[in-house]
Amino acid sequence: MSNRVRKAVFPAGGLGTRFLPATKVIPKEMLALVDKPIIQYGVEEALASGIEHIILVTGRGKSAMEDHFDLSYELDATLERRGKKELLEVSRKVAHMARVSYVRQKEPLGLGHAVLCAKDLVGDEPFAVILPDDVIDAATPCLKQMIDVFNDKQGSVLATMTIDGPGISAYGVLAGSADKSNPRIYNCTGMVEKPKLEDAPSNQAIIGRYVLTPRVFELLETTKPGAGGEIQLTDGILALLKEEKVFGYSFEGKRFDAGDKFGMLQATVEFALKRPEFAEKFRNYLKGVVC
Ligand code: UTP
Repeated sequence: MSNRVRKAVFPAGGLGTRFLPATKVIPKEMLALVDKPIIQYGVEEALASGIEHIILVTGRGKSAMEDHFDLSYELDATLERRGKKELLEVSRKVAHMARVSYVRQKEPLGLGHAVLCAKDLVGDEPFAVILPDDVIDAATPCLKQMIDVFNDKQGSVLATMTIDGPGISAYGVLAGSADKSNPRIYNCTGMVEKPKLEDAPSNQAIIGRYVLTPRVFELLETTKPGAGGEIQLTDGILALLKEEKVFGYSFEGKRFDAGDKFGMLQATVEFALKRPEFAEKFRNYLKGVVC
């Protein structure tokens, strides 16, 4: 068994109902943030974190994702004929950027079930999970920060964000205490899914990045459907917590929920303002609209 985190699972079998009607035909993961589908941001983060093998868990109607990470002969031939070298490079780069495998989740039975679908492709080694609609802007890729913690602590790591106030009720929330060696690390003793503010065991909200040991697969196999009749990943991790150490990690960076309309708008503004080719023009435009 390799103890290196080499594989990243991208659950992308969900229905994306929060983004209807855009997601009636187009997979949520293919919605563009500025000029790249949101799944590509996650794949780039994984590769920049040392991941060698991308595993996409897809579902019915999601084949656009497979086409995106493949060669597009007609497009490429046309770009070549027209002498559009830079665009050709952009198109080909996506096709060659990663080793990608696909597995289908036949029904959207929950995030835990989607992760379990990747069991055979992951095998008996630690692995990462990236929820593609959580787009993270960070100087050091969020997943890289987490893999460093995993290597140091030899236990599963869940990315967290500090939320003070009622917003915490939208998340899974950790129980436990901050590590003495590093206040960003949280020694996890439990977690509560979407608690009321007064019941929240801490202000550490779980977001869409995980580094997990393969034991979680066996535990997910016996996890019963929980909230909403879905097999929840958090229930699998709660079972893991009874056997192994699990850590929270308050990553350095900013997370956007691009699976949500407002979150996508925030991400669009902030990512556009970072693009040198139109940052100034866009800033001036925003000033004009807002005043
Ligand atoms: P979400 O709850 O954010 O995604 O799940 P969703 O269900 O697609 O979206 P809404 O809430 O209806 O708008 C987080 C991630 O888990 C995946 C989703 O594709 C998303 O990337 N997921 C969820 C699965 O792969 N399978 C599932 O059964 C459920």
